[in-house]
Amino acid sequence: MKKAFIKAISYKVPEKRVSNDELAKTVDTSDEWIYSHTGIKYRHIAEEQTAASDLALQPCLDVIEQADIDPKEIDLIIVATITQDYVGFPSTACVLQDRLGAVNAGAMDLAAACTGYIYSLETAKALIKTGSAKNILLVSSEILTKITDWTDRNTCVLFGDGAGASLVSLNEENTESDILFSILGAEGNGAPYLIRMAGGSRYPIRPHSENRKDGYIRMDGQKVYHFAVRVLCKTIKRILEKYNLSIDDIAYIVPHQANIRIIEAAAKRLKIPIEKFYVNIQEYANTSGATIPIALGEMVEKGLLRRGDYIITVGFGGGLTYGGNLICW
Ligand code: ACO
Repeated sequence: MKKAFIKAISYKVPEKRVSNDELAKTVDTSDEWIYSHTGIKYRHIAEEQTAASDLALQPCLDVIEQADIDPKEIDLIIVATITQDYVGFPSTACVLQDRLGAVNAGAMDLAAACTGYIYSLETAKALIKTGSAKNILLVSSEILTKITDWTDRNTCVLFGDGAGASLVSLNEENTESDILFSILGAEGNGAPYLIRMAGGSRYPIRPHSENRKDGYIRMDGQKVYHFAVRVLCKTIKRILEKYNLSIDDIAYIVPHQANIRIIEAAAKRLKIPIEKFYVNIQEYANTSGATIPIALGEMVEKGLLRRGDYIITVGFGGGLTYGGNLICW
């Protein structure tokens, strides 16, 4: 059986770093409320002219260099994002394909909101293992601050901008490194709890239309919170059971970073020490599908991931979607 692995990974966040205290100057909130309810201290915010592909470009170039491949060897680019450069088309993957000179690559965007990286990793794994591709560039890039309603304190404190890129390749040396198994799930009946109403074919934004504000993220925080804790627990349990692993066999769980309290509640319910979960939400807030590749990139930088380690990624998001990957790093 062929193996697919994450050969290279990198990330980038915008330079502008905004603290809770700075945010509290323009919104009725406080550092105390935000930190105690979410674990967030800072978020990074892109400049007005920056689009998702702009932020993603450097991490893409990094992984091409790290993996020492020619962009012409990339077979497919998948961009998991809810803040595409353009609505619908052209895909952000096509924009990047051109900018990278990846002339032999197919290009597509994948819409699974915050679960996007998990979904795209499974897609890449399947295409590599069945022989359809050898090198797939996975990108998750989000400029959420442009679809954030800065007058809504229920949501605006939660989000930030960031991008992660990874090259998923055929493991030609047949080492242990492999993407072993994924769970991809959805509960479409929860769609209204996390939604951007306008901008699509249901509610197109037209000049002078009344619904301009509906182009922002709308969320029922409590509903999403309960869904998140439930599916994180279910997914981690199912992954461990499927491979007959105990939590001691896992080096790290890398969860989607939406709220530290969601991660703590799942850890408590599963009786897993919180130290098993890699957490960096304090620095970046929720960057949707980019949280997991940013976390993985940071962990590699810190020397926390060794080849052969087992790790679990797990996440949830708009859709509602959820899922996880078991990776032998
Ligand atoms: N500052 C100060 N007070 C606030 C703020 C704020 N930023 N936001 C809300 N409050 C107030 C509310 O108005 C409410 O006041 P009230 O009791 O007078 O009405 C009070 O705080 C409590 O509000 P709750 O909504 O009950 O607060 P909760 O403890 O549930 O925390 C939160 C809210 C942080 C949003 C939580 O529900 C949560 O994390 N939910 C999950 C969010 C999530 O994971 N979203 C994923 C989005 S990913 C994507 O796909 C883009």
